[in-house]
Amino acid sequence: MVAGRPDVCFSVQSLAGIIFTLTCFLPSCLPAGRTGEGTLVDTVTSRQGDTALLRCYLLDGLSKGAWLNRSSIMFTGGDKWSADPRVSVVTGGGNKHEYSLQIQKVDISDEGRYTCVVQNNLNPQSNHIFLSVKVPPKIYDVSSDVTVNEGGNVSLFCMASGRPEPSISWRHITPLAMKYQTGEDLNISGITKDQAGEYECIAQNDASAPNTKSLRVTVNYPPSIHEMKFTGVGVARTALLRCEALGVPTPAFEWYRGTKRLTRAQGTDIQTLRSRSVLSMTNMTQDRYGNYTCVAVNMLGKASASMPLLPPSTASYGGASRVGVALVAWLLPLVLFSFLAMC
Ligand SMILES: *[C@@H]1O[C@H](CO)[C@@H](O)[C@H](O)[C@H]1NC(C)=O
Ligand SMILES: *[C@@H]1O[C@H](CO)[C@@H](O)[C@H](O)[C@H]1NC(C)=O
Ligand SMILES: *[C@@H]1O[C@H](CO)[C@@H](O)[C@H](O)[C@H]1NC(C)=O
Ligand SMILES: *[C@@H]1O[C@H](CO)[C@@H](O)[C@H](O)[C@H]1NC(C)=O
Ligand SMILES: *[C@@H]1O[C@H](CO)[C@@H](O)[C@H](O)[C@H]1NC(C)=O
Repeated sequence: MVAGRPDVCFSVQSLAGIIFTLTCFLPSCLPAGRTGEGTLVDTVTSRQGDTALLRCYLLDGLSKGAWLNRSSIMFTGGDKWSADPRVSVVTGGGNKHEYSLQIQKVDISDEGRYTCVVQNNLNPQSNHIFLSVKVPPKIYDVSSDVTVNEGGNVSLFCMASGRPEPSISWRHITPLAMKYQTGEDLNISGITKDQAGEYECIAQNDASAPNTKSLRVTVNYPPSIHEMKFTGVGVARTALLRCEALGVPTPAFEWYRGTKRLTRAQGTDIQTLRSRSVLSMTNMTQDRYGNYTCVAVNMLGKASASMPLLPPSTASYGGASRVGVALVAWLLPLVLFSFLAMC
């Protein structure tokens, strides 16, 4: 299939003819107003790194071809003039007489006009093909995760390369899938806690699938207590007090009875799981009733809530039997667990 060197019949005279014809395709040689021949330009699009094939066919087995890159001769017939190892001519017999140009590992500098000249009876015909080289979008620099206080300003950036120039857009992924404006910068002033979460930068052009990078925006805000509850208890039974607070960073909890800070001790336990703290007291005694306060604190402030823990006014609470106490002690981990897990 590959025409090795069929140039035995290709006389020096006709080679000279081709070269003469070729030189006439150099811009300097084109007579004014005769550029019309170059107006019908086919475009071949290739991605950077791929192999491009610019198709050309000879008229018959006797006609000769040549390839030009802009105004430089690359091939005349089977002779390679170009020193570039990536280029070759793909020839084929049969009726089609293919004389196509193959360029391996296409790069941006290869973009431009290529010309296939077909020589037939000293009547040259030129086919212009524009090779367009595209580069997939690639994000090469993007903001790292940021932490900001509520009400602060955030400036995010995202930079991408590609050909054509990729368009950049931003999306807030979680918790709200919201689209932001297009552009390298995403500036948010007076940020709210709803605007915290994961953001995604999307760079796209028509060369391939978009390239994305994501980052996390953390918005700090002071704690607020949104729930405080307890289960009513009689003497010798177990009291559970639950306190829930929101805040970023996750608040730390403190418990007080009156003004006395409570800590883990015999019969008193404090379990904290993320935004929830549970104070449990086994074997309630009279001196443990009183005004309980839960304090949630983080670097931006603190919040507190108080509620009285009163002894039961009815007899139904008191007089726990030994069995009852044992049962409570046995059930406690279960109760505590479900209490912590309750939403
Ligand atoms: C075409 O010419 C340009 C400019 O001289 C050059 O940079 C490029 O490498 C050439 N490409 C091929 C495939 O010859
Ligand atoms: C945040 O941006 C607003 C305008 O968008 C500006 O008035 C304000 O001073 C900025 N705040 C900070 C802390 O930079
Ligand atoms: C976003 O903020 C950065 C840094 O403060 C600034 O340089 C840039 O011009 C801003 N961009 C827009 C679109 O407001
Ligand atoms: C409960 O407390 C009372 C009074 O302090 C004590 O006498 C009793 O032994 C305790 N019971 C348990 C099960 O700890
Ligand atoms: C409970 O304690 C808190 C904090 O010490 C206090 O502000 C509140 O007034 C107290 N409530 C009662 C009813 O004593």
